[in-house]
Amino acid sequence: MEKPHLVTCTAPVNIAVVKYWGKRNEELILPINSSLSVTLHQDQLKTTTTVATNKSFKEDRIWLNGKEEDVTHPRLQSCLREIRRLARKRHNDGDATSTDLTGLSQKVHICSINNFPTAAGLASSAAGFACLVYSLAQAFGVEGELSGIARQGSGSACRSMYGGFVQWIMGNQEDGKDSLAQQVEPESHWPELRILVLVASAERKPIGSTSGMQTSVQTSGLLKHRAESVVPHRMEEMIKAVRGKDFAAFAELTMKDSNQFHATCLDTYPPIFYLNRVSQQVIHLVHRYNRHYGETRVAYSFDAGPNAVIFTLQQHVPEFVHLVQHFFPPETNGENFIKGLPVKHAAASEQLKQSVGLEPMPKGINYVISTKAGPGPRVVKDPSLHLLTPDGFPKP
Ligand code: DP6
Repeated sequence: MEKPHLVTCTAPVNIAVVKYWGKRNEELILPINSSLSVTLHQDQLKTTTTVATNKSFKEDRIWLNGKEEDVTHPRLQSCLREIRRLARKRHNDGDATSTDLTGLSQKVHICSINNFPTAAGLASSAAGFACLVYSLAQAFGVEGELSGIARQGSGSACRSMYGGFVQWIMGNQEDGKDSLAQQVEPESHWPELRILVLVASAERKPIGSTSGMQTSVQTSGLLKHRAESVVPHRMEEMIKAVRGKDFAAFAELTMKDSNQFHATCLDTYPPIFYLNRVSQQVIHLVHRYNRHYGETRVAYSFDAGPNAVIFTLQQHVPEFVHLVQHFFPPETNGENFIKGLPVKHAAASEQLKQSVGLEPMPKGINYVISTKAGPGPRVVKDPSLHLLTPDGFPKP
């Protein structure tokens, strides 16, 4: 039997600072507004995917985090169909580097894992679909613009196709061909920027983005106002703040946008609650910290769950992390509280703690992941890192 052809890639998570919430077309995943995000570094958070192709495979199959999943999932099918369509088009156009036709008809085995716990409640669908599309493209010899395909797996996944600062332009066409992601600045543009993911000890899984935004589109007048009258100008302001590395402007726009997104959730009928008591305390902590210094040094952003994502500059990280640890005292092992990029030890003054003046919430935050902006999807060269065996089945 001929051995399968294996390819392995990794892709990053992204955090939106101008949020995507609401679709105008459910099937093609076309949004009602543009959005902008920061791609997080893959050293801390990434999805790894191996794709195997072989003549002998009877059907497409997929394993996610060790468990076989239903390959007929419509969004997965959209991505597979679109990549095969593109590969066929390249072949018909006579592109020499594209796969031969026998390769195109081959079935795939896909295996994917995250290097962060799903239980952490971090949106894994963006990294997951970005990685799937990037790996399939490698396997079928397809190059070029792929964000429009990743978008059909999960809207936010299109932004994970690029590193650094990325906008998803909503587009106007019915067929969605102009609804694509585009890099605004690469990850090297703002090296002082730091990102802290405060993983809250969530009680239960909140309502998912897909159905949440559906209800919001149907019922929230505020969401309509946001999409039509707030986001277009905010996108321009955000791009200006990023390009000019204007942290105060970037931070204020980020917090206002997160707050407006959660306001549209409350305006949804019946309302959706993603923020919990811990999230609210983090919001107070950030505003009181900034007020203490009379300067916007730290910003927060929340997606469809209670975890806070903090943006700040490198020089403020040690003190702010100390405050987080002070107001959310971890159980015992303070050592494991900070994961990712090392954080220097620093103390916060009594005066600062007093002016923050919050009631400590023991164990409110499980741990902190310290990271920065990072690059887009990558091919993994080392064959020992394939997630599938040479026969095309998940490694034990
Ligand atoms: C709150 O991309 O997960 O994280 O397109 O239905 O898969 P689907 O939704 P998804 O929504 C993400 C929503 C958000 C904001 C954002 O990332 O822009």
